Amino acid sequence: MRLLELHRVSKHFGGIRAVEDFSLEVQAGEIVGLIGPNGAGKSTLFNCVAGVFPPTSGEIVFQGKRIEGRKPWELCRLGIARTFQIVKPFASRTVLYNVTVGAFATTSRLAEAERRALAVLRTLHMEEKAHVRAANLTIADRKRLEIARALATRPRLLLLDEVMAGLRPTEVDEMVEVIRRLRDSGITFFVIEHIMRAVMALSDRIAVLHFGHKIAEGLPAEVARDDRVIKAYLGEDYGAA
Ligand SMILES: Nc1ncnc2c1ncn2[C@@H]1O[C@H](COP(=O)(O)OP(=O)(O)OP(=O)(O)O)[C@@H](O)[C@H]1O
Ligand SMILES: [Mg+2]
Repeated sequence: MRLLELHRVSKHFGGIRAVEDFSLEVQAGEIVGLIGPNGAGKSTLFNCVAGVFPPTSGEIVFQGKRIEGRKPWELCRLGIARTFQIVKPFASRTVLYNVTVGAFATTSRLAEAERRALAVLRTLHMEEKAHVRAANLTIADRKRLEIARALATRPRLLLLDEVMAGLRPTEVDEMVEVIRRLRDSGITFFVIEHIMRAVMALSDRIAVLHFGHKIAEGLPAEVARDDRVIKAYLGEDYGAA
C-alpha cells in the first residue's frame, strides 16, 4: 500500500531551486533512505512533507489524501512525525517531560500522555533516564530523545533527519536496530542520513538528491554503484572500499 506519494514536488526560495520536480512513493512498512551532498535539498523536502512550509508546486499525498500546504500539527494528527536535524529539547526539563509534550500533540489527557511517553522510553531503552534533565544527556541519548518525542505522537510515518550524526559506531549500530524494530512494529520510515554504512544497511530503497534533483533511486546496492551517485556524492573511493 502506498503511504506517501510525492508528485513533481518543487520548493524554491527566491532564486534558489532547493527541490526541483521530485517524485517518489513510499510504501507502508518501508524504510526509504534519502541521501545527497550538503545543500542538496533533503531537509527542505522533509519540511515540505512535514508542513513547515508548502511546496512551491507539486502534490504530496498521504494515505490517499492531498496534504501539501497543511500545517505541522494537522499532519501530526494524520500520522506524520519528524525529527529535526538540529535537536532542540526543553533542556532544563526531564526526558519524561519532553516526551510527554510530544504525546500531547495527539492526546489532551495527561495520564495518557505520560503512559505513552513511558512506553516509548521503554522501547528506546531510555526508561532509566526518564528523570534526567535533557541538558545532561549524551549526544546519542539526545538523538534518542528526539525520536522518542516523535514516536509519542504515534506516527504512521516517521521522518528522521540525520539522527545518527555524531554517534559512535556502536551507537549507530544500536540506532539501526532500534529503527528496524520500530518498522517491524508498523511504522514507515523516510530517513535522511550521511552515514553510508547505516543508510545502506537500513534502507529498503534509497533516493539520491543532487542540487534539488533526484539523480537516482533504487536498491542500496544499485544506488551504490550508480556512476552519477558516485560522482555527485559517494566519491570514486566508495565503490572500491
Ligand atoms: N528556509 C530557507 N530559506 C532560504 N533558503 C533555504 C531555506 N532552507 C533551505 N534553503 C536552501 O535550500 C538549499 C537546500 O538546503 P537543505 O537544508 O534542504 O539541504 P540538505 O540536503 O538538507 O543539506 P545538509 O546535508 O547540509 O543538511 C540550500 O541552498 C539552502 O541554503
Ligand atoms: Mg539537511
